[in-house]
Amino acid sequence: MKYSAVIFDLDGVICHTDNYHYLAWKQIADDLSICFDEKINNRLRGVSRMDSLDIILETYNGTLTDQEKRMYAEKKNIIYRSLLEEMSPTDLSDDVRKTLVELQERGYKLAVGSSSKNAKLILNKLGLGDFFDAISDGTNVTRSKPDPEVFICASEYVKVKPEKCIVVEDAKAGIEAAIAANMDSAAIGDATLSGMATHNLKCLSDLLVIL
Ligand code: BG6
Ligand code: MG
Repeated sequence: MKYSAVIFDLDGVICHTDNYHYLAWKQIADDLSICFDEKINNRLRGVSRMDSLDIILETYNGTLTDQEKRMYAEKKNIIYRSLLEEMSPTDLSDDVRKTLVELQERGYKLAVGSSSKNAKLILNKLGLGDFFDAISDGTNVTRSKPDPEVFICASEYVKVKPEKCIVVEDAKAGIEAAIAANMDSAAIGDATLSGMATHNLKCLSDLLVIL
């Protein structure tokens, strides 16, 4: 087998929490009278909470103290987590479920590589709390994608060399992180537009053909 491990981004790959991030940030942007649209939102994919806020504030007509920034980031997280409350195993699509189960049966190590500090909560909500061999997320890294740290940690957790790992990502920053980690990548959604990934997927089960 060319690869021994598959490292999945979470938001926008396993589930559609990317839309919840959008809705929560939109409320913060509206509070601050900042323009926020899908184009800006796509720049937040894979980017940590505080770095996302800095991107949103690029067009803010004023300045915020670090304490105010932390307050807005916390407020966004409260809105986001209230949206996550509604999540359940029915939010896992048949395509994603089928792909994960089949890859596990084929003997791949499966890991999560997410920038989110809410990753474990989301996986529990989806009924995937015990499914993956390893979880590398926003709680074990200090640098956000496009830095490769989150994927390097995932590869160490499953004890597979980077060159035997493939990353699945919906974020351009995530594809850049995979390249920096010396890993192949499969892009889905917005990340396919980057033209930088090893493979482009229309749906997650396309992986079953590639791998
Ligand atoms: C990533 C999302 O998965 O997690 C980003 O793509 C988000 O949009 C980042 O900012 C951090 O998430 P959280 O849940 O820690 O605020
Ligand atoms: Mg993502």
